[in-house]
Amino acid sequence: MPRLIPSILIMAAVCAGNVSAAEPARPLVIAHRGASGYLPEHTLESYARAIDQGADYIEADLVVTKDGYLVARHENELSDTTDIALRFPNRKTTKTIDGRMVEGWFSEHFNLDELSTVRAKERLAFRDQSNNSHFHIPTIAEILTLRAAKQRETGRTIGVYIETKHPSYFRAMGLPMEEPLLSILTAWALDRPGSPVFLESFEADSVWRMGEGTAVPVIYLLAEGSPETTDESLGAIARFAEGIGPAKSLIVPVDAKGRTGPPTDLVARAHQAGLLVHPYTFRPEIQFLPVTYAGDAGKEYCQFAQLGVDGVFTDTPDLALKAFGESYPMPK
Ligand code: G3P
Ligand code: CA
Repeated sequence: MPRLIPSILIMAAVCAGNVSAAEPARPLVIAHRGASGYLPEHTLESYARAIDQGADYIEADLVVTKDGYLVARHENELSDTTDIALRFPNRKTTKTIDGRMVEGWFSEHFNLDELSTVRAKERLAFRDQSNNSHFHIPTIAEILTLRAAKQRETGRTIGVYIETKHPSYFRAMGLPMEEPLLSILTAWALDRPGSPVFLESFEADSVWRMGEGTAVPVIYLLAEGSPETTDESLGAIARFAEGIGPAKSLIVPVDAKGRTGPPTDLVARAHQAGLLVHPYTFRPEIQFLPVTYAGDAGKEYCQFAQLGVDGVFTDTPDLALKAFGESYPMPK
């Protein structure tokens, strides 16, 4: 697998008051579940909005259907982000997922034809609910089709950033994710060195499988509080991944009162190990934004840019680009 070097271009404009020309380039803007701050997550409409706002990459979490299709959802339990409970009231079940008992409606119990009747809804009560039950659950093939169409429309390179969710769980039930995903990328000629694709997972085995099977970079996700931030761990990660996707708090800790503390040296040490750093998740609402930033999400983006991150997972790509000093292209 190729090893990527963190970029060394120049970041400009809004954050620039505190960033010298020697600082890293503007971080990549990765639209987390699409422009999920504005439209129901993991829908074609949310991805299209993110692209229109100027996102560099659209991010899709994938789960598997009963008949083996890869569809975009954050969880295989579907009732938090869709109206499946209304459409299939008798199909509720209980399962153990990653050691946890979960009750609900699971992607692996429904074939794609059935899921095509389901519509997405907004997960968070304090976000816009007016688009509920309008948009369908897309397959990865539909997302890549949208990406190609928007790339032609905008004339920009648009990347995809794809996560396997619960891959060992699905593999154990005969629904492996990595092989079909890599086949689809090959079919779209998106598996080559330089293809605008990142693949990611919280499961090291899945990251390793994807890294072995493709030339595109793979990213190992680190959850909040992860112990895998020592130099030894980073060195081990660098043997199978091009980068890490850490929870933001591994870089800028936040206390119980929502106040940020002194940054860690994770970014510098990850770079030292040859790893890219793409933290998650940047969200502007007071429910998420540390109080230190006093309601100004731009300050958070700038702090992380100054710390040298290579990309940011954001629910609001427009706000990231505004903070990084880029005006964003409007839809044609
Ligand atoms: O993939 C980066 C980030 O999205 C990980 O968190 O739980 O939103 O998939 P999650
Ligand atoms: Ca994700």
